[in-house]
Amino acid sequence: NEGSLWGGRFAGGPADALAALSKSTDFDWRLARYDVAGSRAHARVLHTAGLLDDVELTAMLEALDTLEADVVSGAYTAAASDEDVHGSLERGLIERAGSALGGKLRAGRSRNDQIATLGRMFLRDHARLIAARLLETVDALIAQAEAHPYAPMPGRTHLQHAQPVLLSHHLLAHAWSMTRDVQRFVDWDRRAAVSPYGSGALAGSSLGLDPNAVAAELGFSSAAWNSIDGTAARDVFAEFAWVCAMVGVDLSRISEEVIFWATKEAGFVTLDDAYSTGSSIMPQKKNPDVAELARGKSGRLIGDLTGLLATLKGLPLAYNRDLQEDKEPVFDAADTLELLLPAVSGMIATLTFNTPRMAELAPQGFALATDIAEWLVRSGVPFRDAHELSGEAVQVAEQRGVELWDLTDEDYAAISPALTSEVRTVLSTSGSLNSRNAQGGTAPEAVEAQLAELRRQLAEL
Ligand code: ARG
Repeated sequence: NEGSLWGGRFAGGPADALAALSKSTDFDWRLARYDVAGSRAHARVLHTAGLLDDVELTAMLEALDTLEADVVSGAYTAAASDEDVHGSLERGLIERAGSALGGKLRAGRSRNDQIATLGRMFLRDHARLIAARLLETVDALIAQAEAHPYAPMPGRTHLQHAQPVLLSHHLLAHAWSMTRDVQRFVDWDRRAAVSPYGSGALAGSSLGLDPNAVAAELGFSSAAWNSIDGTAARDVFAEFAWVCAMVGVDLSRISEEVIFWATKEAGFVTLDDAYSTGSSIMPQKKNPDVAELARGKSGRLIGDLTGLLATLKGLPLAYNRDLQEDKEPVFDAADTLELLLPAVSGMIATLTFNTPRMAELAPQGFALATDIAEWLVRSGVPFRDAHELSGEAVQVAEQRGVELWDLTDEDYAAISPALTSEVRTVLSTSGSLNSRNAQGGTAPEAVEAQLAELRRQLAEL
């Protein structure tokens, strides 16, 4: 059976049902170029170890170049009889280099160390792509924050009006969590930059091959220090899937807000036509589908992670065929984010904020009650009492169906002599915002400082 990597000890070929089950070329073919790169590096260490002479190395590298060109052009594809990308490419190599030479390349390596290495190469490339797309989302948030430096909005906890905050502060909160996701990919890459090539099936190679030479050629910072770990571990895959799931969750949270902001009831944002969809029956509809798909796809990303973890949990060391199931979840996670992030970035970049409405609502719902309590604290009232007094003012206002600033000086004096007319200085959105000026607060100067720090951290990436 051409294209099969084993068979010597078998009297017959695999059953059709096994061959169909076993086959992975439908999804592992996207690792073909990484496989060829690994083969080049492997040919060089075989040469260094004296297992290929100069002529053989040159011929091998030429055949690999031709094979790669044919893979890229589509002239060479997996055959129905190929089990996986490794076996198929060995077949392709033998077709180009002849079996005497082509049959030498497999010495000292196994599909087990190959696949563990190629997966890392794929993920490292895609982590960079995703991080770059995520930085564009962060840029979109920063641009919107900078376009609205002083616009207030209702800050919420439990989705209830809590305290006024700056829109820029709120948008940058999302930018921080996404920046940490980018930092996570960078940090993850230090662990991913270790090459399992040379670990062989599980115990290493007896042929005097230098795993660090292969690692360096493939862009890794070192070879694995334990061949069992090198071939059996997939924590680096799972961690990648976790960071992707976290990105999905972060995109889902801002998306949920955009969906709410775009309701008639909130009226905070208008979605750009280019980032909204219509209804096939209701002519007036303008739907936030980008945000909804982001929310939906976050579930899919969480599924990729949990599926992979479930695959790994019962596996004894070292390689088990279950590990063939490691690829589709991480491929799907990468594909999902690469598709999703540009749409979310575009949606955010093109949002139009109804800032007058947001400003009008910012202090409503007694959102300045904490300011009254903290004003009392500054004049020496214990917070416990100040909280009570401010709460009484809320109760009076609520009973009358008015806001805190509608109460008269007499109303306040009746609650407590400590509530002098001076309290009015904090009964405004700007008074509330400006007072929260320590690091991390929502005062304009504090938001300016946080943006400078965010930019500093982004520049470090
Ligand atoms: N296709 C396999 C995988 O994706 C690699 C081959 C290892 N197979 C084996 N029988 N040792 O994990």
